[in-house]
Amino acid sequence: MTTTRFANRVTEMLGVEIPIVQAPMGWIARSQLASAVSRAGACGIIETSSGELDVIREEIRKMRDLTDKPFGVNIAQAFVRDPNIAEFVIDQGVQFVTTSAGSPMKYTSVLKSAGLTVYHVVPTLSAALKAVDAGVDGLVVEGGEGGGFKSPTPVSTMVLLPLVRSRMDVPIIAAGGIVDGATMAAAFALGAEGVQMGTRMVSATESPVHLNWKQAIVDAAETDTLFLNERHSPALRALRTTRTTDLQHAEHNVFGDFGDAQALYFGGDMEAAIALSGQVAGRIDEVRPVADIIADTVAQFIATVERLSTGGQP
Ligand SMILES: Cc1cc2nc3c(=O)[nH]c(=O)nc-3n(C[C@H](O)[C@H](O)[C@H](O)COP(=O)(O)O)c2cc1C
Repeated sequence: MTTTRFANRVTEMLGVEIPIVQAPMGWIARSQLASAVSRAGACGIIETSSGELDVIREEIRKMRDLTDKPFGVNIAQAFVRDPNIAEFVIDQGVQFVTTSAGSPMKYTSVLKSAGLTVYHVVPTLSAALKAVDAGVDGLVVEGGEGGGFKSPTPVSTMVLLPLVRSRMDVPIIAAGGIVDGATMAAAFALGAEGVQMGTRMVSATESPVHLNWKQAIVDAAETDTLFLNERHSPALRALRTTRTTDLQHAEHNVFGDFGDAQALYFGGDMEAAIALSGQVAGRIDEVRPVADIIADTVAQFIATVERLSTGGQP
């Protein structure tokens, strides 16, 4: 079913059946979540933004016990302190890397020389042009409605994706606001050949975060995220809590007030740190297993494309 449906440059480069990528997320994008995504035929990603490279090495080893399907690794450049991060990733034997939060000039050639496929995450057209100049294989085009660390000048997926597509021909994975088959089909209509899901994956059954965070996503309305730190970099999009509300209009760089991530992520204290999440939290109303999320997204994508091709009404 899916192999022929989705045969495109992203499935070919990543070696997956379904061009859905689970977002890299510090402490969250580890083997429990990523293996469920890869087993479902999509692409799991292991993070390095936690900086815990010894743990990450073990997580990658576990991936190989849990699935024989492909997966990738992310280098979130602003958060990784190890100067040998590219060599670390190459040594792990993965084929696919996304680089983000930094210059595409830094790691692209060393990763590509080692035979890896490199996609760079871009929040603007100018960043996309730079990444293509640096020789990346593809782009993750990330709209400002998405969760996590962001450009201080956010541009929505609906504007950014067709703009980038109109100026270049490399394969694009769309990120920011993607949650189901309708949004995946919309992203494909705007020029993507793959999609990345962040907030949806935080809320998945196999996500390791505390149920309180998943429930907060389920309970959130589309208006329940805040965009913080726009006078500094990185800006960030997170759930509205007392902590983030207090930080919303701060003049100083609130990155230093991120808080105790472990107490939030695994202890479930929603005020202990900043709960990074996208606006799409407002469209998530259930904690669901990864396999169901992927299967429903594919089925809904196919139904949407068929409906549009026959001029159908919603
Ligand atoms: C909790 C969380 C942590 C994230 N951490 C990273 C990261 O380490 N590296 C990265 O490239 N993107 C990171 N992101 C951004 C995601 O990769 C993704 O592009 C974004 O969540 C997509 O938007 P969505 O939340 O609407 O799906 C993070 C997002 C969230 C929600």
